[in-house]
Amino acid sequence: MLERIERMVNKVSFIGVGPGDPELLTLKALKKIKIADVIIWTDSLIPEKILDFSKESSEKIKTSSLNLEQITTIMIEKIQEGKTVVRLHDGDPCLFGAIREQIEILKSEKIKIEVVPGVSAFQIAAAYHEAELTIPDVTQTIILTRAGGRTGMPEKESLKDLAKHNSSICLYLSARHIKRCQETLLEFYPPETKVIVGFRVSWDDGWTSLIELKDMEKFSIEKKLIRTTIYIISPAISNSKKRSNLYDPSYSHLFRKK
Ligand SMILES: C[S@@+](CC[C@H](N)C(=O)[O-])C[C@H]1O[C@@H](n2cnc3c(N)ncnc32)[C@H](O)[C@@H]1O
Repeated sequence: MLERIERMVNKVSFIGVGPGDPELLTLKALKKIKIADVIIWTDSLIPEKILDFSKESSEKIKTSSLNLEQITTIMIEKIQEGKTVVRLHDGDPCLFGAIREQIEILKSEKIKIEVVPGVSAFQIAAAYHEAELTIPDVTQTIILTRAGGRTGMPEKESLKDLAKHNSSICLYLSARHIKRCQETLLEFYPPETKVIVGFRVSWDDGWTSLIELKDMEKFSIEKKLIRTTIYIISPAISNSKKRSNLYDPSYSHLFRKK
């Protein structure tokens, strides 16, 4: 029944499949992968076992060697053939997913779009370390960013500017630039600030480690980290005894009186 309804709608579903562990797929993502005729997937960042849920007959297309026009042309053709098309992105598609330009091209062809969110890399890395990145009086802010590389950073978002806040900072796409990141961050954070480093977190060969900021570059070189690495630099990690207000007996709110 669901499949019949989906087929009637001429749309491409952009699906965030999470960091790699198939159990972190949302039910919605799972349902859509199961019924898709065509699965276009970011093979460089998604483990193949995510496709285990797909129909054997589905066509699976890797995007690592394709450019934007090639990818969108395939989507348009498959939709015009009446196929159910899903486009899989790692993590959550709104973060460094390059979905906007795909969506613009599809919309110009009057193709409808839907986006299904997913668990992002920083969330699984934090979860593996049981970390809360927003501790009262330490930081209430999480910055999701990257080091400027071939894709430059907007002028007002240099790491130096962001680091001034002393918030939890999650660095995506930054392993190649970690020397520069460490130097900049050390201007604002103590050398002993905890850093969660995660490589292919939740993949079969993935791992995470808790290190200190002063060792971030050395560690990255030792582990030969270049790709699929997340860094969480945070004063909130193992630092504070301060309790949040939410569950404090002396703090009342709509659902609980003092
Ligand atoms: C193009 S970005 C996409 C991010 C993705 N949309 C997300 O929400 O996690 C790819 C970068 O995300 C990070 N990343 C994605 N999956 C990861 C994982 N399983 N473990 C560690 N880092 C990951 C790495 O920094 C990688 O270079």
